[in-house]
Amino acid sequence: ETVTEQYRPEYHFTPQKGWMNDPNGMFYLDGEYHLFYQYYPDSTVWGPMHWGHAVSKDLVRWEELPIAIYPDSLGYIFSGSAVYDRENTSGLGTEETPPIVAVFTYHDMAGEKSGATDFQSQGIAFSVDKGRTWTKYEGNPVLPNQGIRDFRDPKVTELIKEDGTKRWNMTLAAQDRIQFFESEDLKTWKFTGEFGQSIGAHGGVWECPDLLSLTAPNGDQKWVLLVSINPGGPQKGSATQYFIGNFENGTFTPDDTMIRWLDYGPDNYAGVTWSNLPEEESRTLFIGWMSNWLYAQVVPTTSWRSAMTVARELSLIEINGVLLLKSAPAKELESLRGEEITIDKTSNLPSQAVEIKLELDGSDNFALVFSNELNEKVSITKEMGLVSIDRTYAGNEAFHPDFAAMHSAPMSWKAEDLRIFLDACSIEVFVNNGELVMTSTLFPSSPWKKAAFISGIENASFFDLKK
Ligand code: FRU
Repeated sequence: ETVTEQYRPEYHFTPQKGWMNDPNGMFYLDGEYHLFYQYYPDSTVWGPMHWGHAVSKDLVRWEELPIAIYPDSLGYIFSGSAVYDRENTSGLGTEETPPIVAVFTYHDMAGEKSGATDFQSQGIAFSVDKGRTWTKYEGNPVLPNQGIRDFRDPKVTELIKEDGTKRWNMTLAAQDRIQFFESEDLKTWKFTGEFGQSIGAHGGVWECPDLLSLTAPNGDQKWVLLVSINPGGPQKGSATQYFIGNFENGTFTPDDTMIRWLDYGPDNYAGVTWSNLPEEESRTLFIGWMSNWLYAQVVPTTSWRSAMTVARELSLIEINGVLLLKSAPAKELESLRGEEITIDKTSNLPSQAVEIKLELDGSDNFALVFSNELNEKVSITKEMGLVSIDRTYAGNEAFHPDFAAMHSAPMSWKAEDLRIFLDACSIEVFVNNGELVMTSTLFPSSPWKKAAFISGIENASFFDLKK
């Protein structure tokens, strides 16, 4: 291991080199999960945005492919989504080879500098070779700016309308609200409604939305709207909130005015879900950018910056009469597991890439600590209804004044078990398999070597995670 590879995750996706932010354009086709991402190959800070590309057969082992989409005269390629246009409604493929259509935001840097406000618009590109190469549509932009400065991050989904007809729906972030557009061919878009100007968290600009259809535990079909916000997150900086309600007549109506966060840690942003998953699976799969705009560009990695979270399966749960979104680790992560090692009060960690499984003792409070030989440590606790990750003394933190901190999340119901995923520079804590999640990056000077289970834990075991 070379010095430049310190903090390189073992099973979280990172680009070999360069800067990465949001996951983009995720779709599944013919046995491959595609992941694109905001990418600047020439530096480890944000710059002219491309779509980088990786594929995986199992959501866990990723292969980086050549850059998929390059910036052009219309601008940088900002975040967006991709759909499999099975019936070739766009006419960009053929009946035999339907296209994958990527829908993204063009960000015109020159326009921004000149003081214009119409420098963000939506464009499309298509691929007829399983996402390997992309051709931009000649008629771009397909959705010009409508007078709102922040007008970006299109997430396209297929909708079956009330009358049974199929439409493409675009969910778009427009500064302090979400706008919806509809299309028959992915090329002509019509505004259908908007949501959110006077509801939800508004400490920052709205970005990277997603609209999901999920079944509630009582069988009701609900719509969930994910909205990332920067800044204004519960742990400072960026975070993702969500709304639960209905989507009808081209707009979203929430069931209540409650503010809900997808992940209560500081480092899960701009996450969205995969399109075109095999129907028999009926899963909703999500991945997020495991960082925070507060300090993303100054974290102490050398040749690359940022990793993605582990893939997560989203579902609705009901807690004390309130619907919430659960994020469970994707089942494929179990394929990384070595032998299960049962342990007692303290234990040496077999490696820096481990999953820890804990059954709690029913008292609803717990405390555990991971540490290294330098006395750096991170503790995970539940006390008085608050789940916390304390990374104040977790090593390298001088790069940003807000990094060393304790982050807490309210959990009014009982914690029964924990799954904790550690990798070279992160911890992901899933309470009750994801009823509450906290994701946090960590930069210990030397890997975690020891786990100490202080209280509240009945059974503990480890899995060494190996590719
Ligand atoms: C979110 C975001 C998006 C934008 C992209 C630019 O992190 O700001 O709104 O499309 O990053 O890289």
